[in-house]
Amino acid sequence: MSFSRDDRGSAVLGGVPLASLFDSPEPWGAPAELTTPAYVYDLDAMTAEARALDAGFGDAPRLIAFAVKANSAGPIVRAFAACGLGAEAVSAGECQLALACGVAPERLLMSGVGKSRRDLDAAIGAGEQGIFAIQLESVEEIPAVAARARALGRTARVSIRVNPSVEAATHAHIATGHDEAKFGVALVDLPAAWDAIAREPTLSLAGIGAHIGSQLTRTDEYLRGARTLLDLAAERERAGTPLRFVDFGGGYGIDYGAGCDVRPADFARAAAQLVAQSPLAGRTIVVEPGRALVAAHGVLCATTIIAKRSRSTPERRWLLIDAGMNDLLRPALYAARHRIESLEPAPAGDPSTWRVAGPVCESSDDFGDHLFAGVPARVAIRDSGAYGYTMASQYNGRALPAEVFLSGGRVMAVHMPRRAESWADERARIGR
Ligand code: LLP
Repeated sequence: MSFSRDDRGSAVLGGVPLASLFDSPEPWGAPAELTTPAYVYDLDAMTAEARALDAGFGDAPRLIAFAVKANSAGPIVRAFAACGLGAEAVSAGECQLALACGVAPERLLMSGVGKSRRDLDAAIGAGEQGIFAIQLESVEEIPAVAARARALGRTARVSIRVNPSVEAATHAHIATGHDEAKFGVALVDLPAAWDAIAREPTLSLAGIGAHIGSQLTRTDEYLRGARTLLDLAAERERAGTPLRFVDFGGGYGIDYGAGCDVRPADFARAAAQLVAQSPLAGRTIVVEPGRALVAAHGVLCATTIIAKRSRSTPERRWLLIDAGMNDLLRPALYAARHRIESLEPAPAGDPSTWRVAGPVCESSDDFGDHLFAGVPARVAIRDSGAYGYTMASQYNGRALPAEVFLSGGRVMAVHMPRRAESWADERARIGR
């Protein structure tokens, strides 16, 4: 667990007392102008997480492709690439980012239910031979992918992302493997998809995959999807098409405070065992974790702007902070609950409930009820290392939050995005 408290009760991440990053940044290697809202990440804990997942596979051949949509910051993607991880991208931008961070093209996958020509060209045109595989998500896109490969004078390695018809017990917005989802090729459409691929000389079928959803806190649904894939792959092989890999997707959940009994390595162990006992034994297992590698090892630090009470609702105490839904969208979009803790040691006394909210002009800019003894000067919104900065926006004319990367007990990189003034200039310049 990379978030902890030191002997004095101050919040610590990656060995660095978080408050001191803002109060005396220089000794830690942070710039003097660092302010909240700021994401702080523990790179060492992230790479340890990746190694623990990797160990779960034992000696099974595998490719762990980090889903860069969870966190696309250069220091993080580079650190994973240096550990031997690949990447899963969903756009030309993510594809280019992964390559620029040292991910080899042959360790890169692309998914996406609506890939543009630019996305396809980035994937097919990468390196000497294109990326590891493009995951096809509909029968209809097969001729389009083949046509781009033809235009680029290459053969594109493809896999089919199957929709295995599995209801994952997770938030409806992040369940993707059920019949109503837009993702993947439905089981009934698979024969048409195999035929369509076989008709295209510029496509080479390399694998089969699925991703049933995100924040999975049990392995059974994941394994049900995996079994379906293995049965389908075995059938394909009997029909004379050997596959190089099976891709079980990502989705490993983390403990946001309400509990999560499974660790990423539990999914890995179970998947490796399943494959070893199947006709696909020895084939490469691909997985695409995002959240589980980074979420718990990032926090969003914010400063209290004002503590507000109203005589009309005397029981309600509002704690209005300088981070909002534009910085961390998950609570507004999925009613996600993140633990929020004071950066400073808690004063003595009984805690009371505060409703923590951001400054954005939306009622859903609300981080929920949290307990604090007294009014905290600054807070850390925990488990914000995944789908935090990558989903941030400049809504309400707000600047994007800063990012601080810790390694070896100090700051190894800082990202200070454009200030709010340059947002105003850019918007005002339109049409001038
Ligand atoms: N592979 C595919 C094809 C995906 O669509 C995703 C996530 C992943 C892998 C990685 O899933 P993970 O291991 O991170 O669960 N913004 C939402 C999560 C959206 C997930 C989208 N797809 C959230 O904040 O909860």
